[in-house]
Amino acid sequence: MKNLLYVLIVICVFACKNESKPKEIILQTGLDVKSTDIEKYRPQFHFTPKEKWMNDPNGLVYHNGYYHLFYQYYPDSTVWGPMHWGHAKSKDLLHWVHRPVALYPDSLGYIFSGSAVIDKNNTTGFGKDAMIAIYTYHDPIKEKEGNILFQTQGIAYSNDEGETWKKYEHNPVIQNPGIKDFRDPKMFWNDEKSIWQMVLVAKDHVEFYESPNIKNWKKISEFRFEDNPPLGVWECPDLFKLKVEGTHDEKWVLIISHGDGAPNSGSGTRYFVGDYDGTTFTTTQKSSQWIDYGTDNYAGITFNNEPNDKRIFIGWMSNWNYATTTPTEKWRSAMTLPRELSLIKEDESYYLKSNVISGFDNLKSTISKSTITGNFPYNFSYHNLQESMMSFTTEVQEEIHITFSNSKNESFNISYNKSEGLIKLDRSRSGLVDFNEKYVLSSNQTMTIGKLDTLSFKIVLDASSIEIFINNGKFVMTNQIFPTENFTQFEISPKETVKVSNFEIQSINRSI
Ligand code: FRU
Repeated sequence: MKNLLYVLIVICVFACKNESKPKEIILQTGLDVKSTDIEKYRPQFHFTPKEKWMNDPNGLVYHNGYYHLFYQYYPDSTVWGPMHWGHAKSKDLLHWVHRPVALYPDSLGYIFSGSAVIDKNNTTGFGKDAMIAIYTYHDPIKEKEGNILFQTQGIAYSNDEGETWKKYEHNPVIQNPGIKDFRDPKMFWNDEKSIWQMVLVAKDHVEFYESPNIKNWKKISEFRFEDNPPLGVWECPDLFKLKVEGTHDEKWVLIISHGDGAPNSGSGTRYFVGDYDGTTFTTTQKSSQWIDYGTDNYAGITFNNEPNDKRIFIGWMSNWNYATTTPTEKWRSAMTLPRELSLIKEDESYYLKSNVISGFDNLKSTISKSTITGNFPYNFSYHNLQESMMSFTTEVQEEIHITFSNSKNESFNISYNKSEGLIKLDRSRSGLVDFNEKYVLSSNQTMTIGKLDTLSFKIVLDASSIEIFINNGKFVMTNQIFPTENFTQFEISPKETVKVSNFEIQSINRSI
C-alpha cells in the first residue's frame, strides 16, 4: 500500500551545455517525511528488529528457499544486555519476516555471536538437513568472579528450519583454553577435505578448528598478523574462497572485525587475501585493507549454503563507539544492505569489492533513467532524498564535492581531491550529532583511493544511513546519519570542471 505511494521520482535528463547559472530542478518524489505509522529514523529497506537492541548478524544460512538471519538481540532493552539470538527470514534478503527468538541464554551463559550450517549428511545425528548453530557462551558469573575461562563454544540444532531449537546436552563443545576473548565461531563445510571447519578469534589472533561431527573439535592452526600499534580485540572472523575476477584463479579471504582501531575510529572490519591449504591460512599482504572505510559496518559475515555460489555479506550498521546512544527510541541498530563480495587483482594487489546484491534493483522504482553528459548545473531539489539511490560517473580534474542538504541547513558532504588521492566525508552538520561525543569525533572521515581521473559513485540513502560505493564497490563507506528533516537537495560541484555521465536517481520502495 505504502509502496504505491512511493510513486516514482522523475529523473532529470538534460545536457544544458550553455547554462551558465545554477538551475534548480524541482522533482516530484513520493510521500513527505514519514507518516505517523513509521518511527523517525526507521530504515525503510534495511533490516531492523521490530523493537529493542540488536548487534551482530549471526548464523547467516540459506535453506529451502529462505535466507535466515539470526542476530545478537536483547529483547528487554534498547541497549546491549544478556544476549539472545533473534531471527528473521527472507526469500530475497530485502523483505524480512520476523520470527520468534531462536536462542535464549542458559546456565552456561549469554548466547554470543556464531554461525549456522545445514547438516545435509546428518554428521551430527541431529537429523538430516538439521540446521546447526555454533555460538559462544559468555558466562557473566565467571566473568564477574574474575575467572578468565568465561567464553566457551556451544551448539544447538533445529529440525524445523530455525523455528525452534534444542541445545546440545553436552555443551560446551569447545572449552576455553585460557584466553579471555575466545569467541565468534564461523563454521563451514570444507568440500575438499570433507570435514567441518571453523575459524574463531582468540584475543589477538584467529584459530582454525575441524570436526567430523560438529561435536568434537580439534585445533589445526593459527593466523596472526603483526599490527603496530595493535588493533582492538579481534572479533567475528569469516573464511571463504572467491574467484579472482577475469581469471581462473581462486583465493581465500579471511575477514576479521576489530572492536577498536579502524581507519576512522572505533569498530571496523578488515580482510586478508591469501591461500588456505585446508589447514593453514597464509598471506603476503603487508598492510590492513578494510571492507568498508566508513564508521558503520561492523561484525559482518557471509552466508553459508548460498545457492548461487555467491558470497553475500551483511554487517551491523553501527559502531561500538556510540552504538548504544543513537537517537532511536523503539529499536536500536540496523543491518547494512546485503552485499555481494567479489575479488579483483590490480597491480599485484587483491581487493575485495562489495556491491549491493542485484536483487536490490527490484526495489527501485523504474520510471526512467537518464544520461547526462557535459557541464551543467548539478544542483537538484527533490521532495525527499531519504529513500533513494543515485549513481553516476564523474571525470575529475582537481576535486569534486557532493552535498546532500535540507532546508534546515543540515548537510552531508563527500569530496575527493585528486592531488591528495583522498575521499573525505563530513557528517558534522548532518542533523543530530551530539548524542555522543565519539560520533562527533568521527564526523570527518577519509579513505585513500589514489589519483584517479574517473570515479563512479553509487549512493544509497535510507532514513538514517548513507552507503557509498565507489568504483564498483572497490571502495566503500557506510555511515549512520540523523538529519532532523529529510535531505531534499543534492549538488555536485564545482560545475565548471566536473563532468558527469550516466546520472541516475531512483526512489527505493519500502521493504519492511
Ligand atoms: C561483536 C561482539 C562479538 C560478541 C558479540 C556480543 O560486536 O563483541 O565479539 O560475540 O558482539 O554481543
